[in-house]
Amino acid sequence: MKICILMGSPRAKGNTAELLKPFISTLESNGCAITYIFLSDLNIQPCNGCYACQQIDGHYGCVQDDDVGLIMDCVIESDCIVLATPIYTWYCTAPMKALLDRHYGLNKFYGKAKGSLWAGKRLAIIATHGYDAKYGAEPFETGIKRLCEHSNLEYMGMYSVRDEDDIASFQTESAIAGAEAFARSLYHI
Ligand SMILES: Cc1cc2nc3c(=O)[nH]c(=O)nc-3n(C[C@H](O)[C@H](O)[C@H](O)COP(=O)(O)O)c2cc1C
Repeated sequence: MKICILMGSPRAKGNTAELLKPFISTLESNGCAITYIFLSDLNIQPCNGCYACQQIDGHYGCVQDDDVGLIMDCVIESDCIVLATPIYTWYCTAPMKALLDRHYGLNKFYGKAKGSLWAGKRLAIIATHGYDAKYGAEPFETGIKRLCEHSNLEYMGMYSVRDEDDIASFQTESAIAGAEAFARSLYHI
């Protein structure tokens, strides 16, 4: 299984990265091919709402010349997309939000082009947050569930851990076991 991990934290060695370590090693040791994309290093412009992508059949078709075309190539080639992000102000971080808005070219719903470039793919969330999971992460999960319904993606669930003590919160036996179990839930289906 090919998995594209879209990493939204600006901290390359922060909490979300720590939680991803056992998740990624479980996937890799079970034969999954991982592409890890660190969004903060890339040029991801906001969607300008021009709808030009809705006239282009069979291709992503965005007119903007930034790194999003390459990211979408990875999304299109993958079986499963993982959104890995700290919760910032009840949602994902800004580069991930910009990227999510740029999904429009994957769904040809609003112009003369038709079809989808990603329907049927799996999507999962790994999140870290300061508040408890329900209060902190539920708004983001709700938005992503609706994106999956809207785009015909298979929502695989969210694994999230609360930041109570910075990196140490993500190095506990239960955080690690949870990340490993969540990884197994993705490739067992
Ligand atoms: C700018 C900013 C906004 C945040 N907003 C929230 C929030 O709305 N809800 C929450 O539960 N935690 C919030 N947090 C806490 C982070 O989600 C948490 O510390 C996370 O583990 C950081 O992950 P990282 O080290 O991968 O960046 C916020 C942190 C920052 C820096």
